[in-house]
Amino acid sequence: PLVTTKEMFKKAYEGGYAVGAFNVNNMEIIQGIVKAAAETKSPLILQVSAGARKYASPVYLKKLVEAALIEHPELDIALHLDHGEDFEICKACIDDGFTSVMVDGSHLSFEENIELTKKVVEYAHARGVVVEAELGRLAGIEDAVNVSAEDATYTDPKQAVEFVEKTGCDSLAIAIGTSHGAYKFAADSDPKLDIERLKVISDLLPGFPLVLHGASSVVPEYVAMCNEYGGKLVDAKGCPEPQLRESAKYGICKINIDSDLRLALTGTIRQQFSKDPSNFDPRKYLAPAREAIYGMVKHKMINVLGCDQK
Ligand code: G3H
Ligand code: 13P
Ligand code: NA
Ligand code: ZN
Repeated sequence: PLVTTKEMFKKAYEGGYAVGAFNVNNMEIIQGIVKAAAETKSPLILQVSAGARKYASPVYLKKLVEAALIEHPELDIALHLDHGEDFEICKACIDDGFTSVMVDGSHLSFEENIELTKKVVEYAHARGVVVEAELGRLAGIEDAVNVSAEDATYTDPKQAVEFVEKTGCDSLAIAIGTSHGAYKFAADSDPKLDIERLKVISDLLPGFPLVLHGASSVVPEYVAMCNEYGGKLVDAKGCPEPQLRESAKYGICKINIDSDLRLALTGTIRQQFSKDPSNFDPRKYLAPAREAIYGMVKHKMINVLGCDQK
């Protein structure tokens, strides 16, 4: 059924694993992810960004998720708004039947972030919807904002406690060195998340679910596939899988993945175009792309998130 993340996060917290939150933009992406969740018996968060709503139109995405639930009534799926930038979009998604929304006030001052988050929490909770907020700033490219590395600020642990107390949010996205997109770390660097900071935040907020954005591994196999078949993704680099797995032991209950879906889809389509240049039937290249997403997500669920059979 369609559920909130409340129970999911409680179990994930206690079990030391994380639930995958995957960005969805079309039918093939949803089908690939849902097949992996069904096969591995995993809880699932499907998240929709403002850009996704604009691309597919809100009603299509909602109906595609409903279709997934008709096909797999045994699955627990949360429908979540990713990076809601103001009250209006959060309200629209709550009114549309989303079970969870993110209000991203991370670009605002501490006080303004609290104020906006509180307003969304009040509206959401009155309607049985849960709220993810964000404190601290990730580097990288988001929907509209491009946060440069210098503007990125790791989450302050004491502020996190005050923020959660004052807003009543249900989960909190924190900045500990991840970033959005395919270029998270310098090519010659040894990528490191600030796990020590995570431990401090988590110790100060016992039992409280934390969220990791920008958590794609930027799967090298798919980067290579893109590049082999005419793409140009120079020096792409993501989060090492063992560090993601470790973060789930310290309160991270939700791990956001979008870039890896894009890479699996694009790499496979490029490969198909190259292998069969005379084909112009979209099903012939979208089916293997959907299959690649399925395989990639299944691997994440079992080996990175640890949410299989849960
Ligand atoms: O955080 C950003 C997500 O990857 C969604 O990206 O806003 O281009 O849909 P998007
Ligand atoms: P990636 O770009 O690492 O996949 O992050 C996705 C994300 O955080 C969506 O909110
Ligand atoms: Na953000
Ligand atoms: Zn994000």
